[in-house]
Amino acid sequence: MFIFKTHTELSEWLRLQKSENHSIGFVPTMGALHSGHIALVKKAIEQNDLALVSIFVNPKQFNNAIDFEKYPITTNEDIAFLESVGCHAVYIPAVDDIYPEGLAHVDLDLGMLNEVLEGPKRPGHFDGVVQVVHRFFSIIQPDKVYLGLKDFQQCKVIEALTNTYFPNIHLEFCATERELTGLAKSSRNMRLSEAGKASASHIYQALQHIAHQYKKEDLSSAKRAAILYLSKHQIEVEYLESANADTLTLTSQWQEPTHNVVLLAAYLENVRLIDNIQF
Ligand code: PAF
Repeated sequence: MFIFKTHTELSEWLRLQKSENHSIGFVPTMGALHSGHIALVKKAIEQNDLALVSIFVNPKQFNNAIDFEKYPITTNEDIAFLESVGCHAVYIPAVDDIYPEGLAHVDLDLGMLNEVLEGPKRPGHFDGVVQVVHRFFSIIQPDKVYLGLKDFQQCKVIEALTNTYFPNIHLEFCATERELTGLAKSSRNMRLSEAGKASASHIYQALQHIAHQYKKEDLSSAKRAAILYLSKHQIEVEYLESANADTLTLTSQWQEPTHNVVLLAAYLENVRLIDNIQF
């Protein structure tokens, strides 16, 4: 597996590969890889000639300094993990390789997408995601990009960015990988105790319960019951909202089948977890 530390080395390799018509599947990550990431990498390998992963903890997308400091870094293990599944190349840049002096700020108006859910709770977060993803896409110009639906709103943001600036890049949104308990796989789970992990599995149970109540009771009652259920498991809900799964417009009524998404952010043992269910 090739390991690139600078965009110059990476671009040289990409130029060669593209001159031989090799397609590139790209998986952007912040490292601390788990089997959820690896599922994306395996898809990238299956569907392209070459799979490229980036590992970069993007300082611009952290609105909370402590969260940034505590973000797990496991680069050696990540490299071994990627090698073991046959990934072709990894890009592990330093901050000034991604944000060199003089790099223009990307002004993308996300409109409503930045005004709901994670937007107001994490001011500046999506702007940071836009900056880093724009930079990756400009350097790499991949054919396909693999993103996990656990970060549902982020998928919509990256879709808006791609439609505006990179219409030739195809985005593949991939189902959330879960533990057997239902807990969504996340690098942040590493910060939970074993008891915390067991408690966190109630998040998906609560989301599934709402989905099962589809049109059996009103949506707001189903959400209220879920918040109460979670509080009994030491989970403090920051938001639990329903939206139209296509537009992410918040809704208070059930949508047509397959157009519902219920999204949650919650704290447990001081760790912020997000999850969602589509139905
Ligand atoms: O989802 C992530 O890991 C990050 O937000 C991403 C897309 C790699 C951008 O830093």
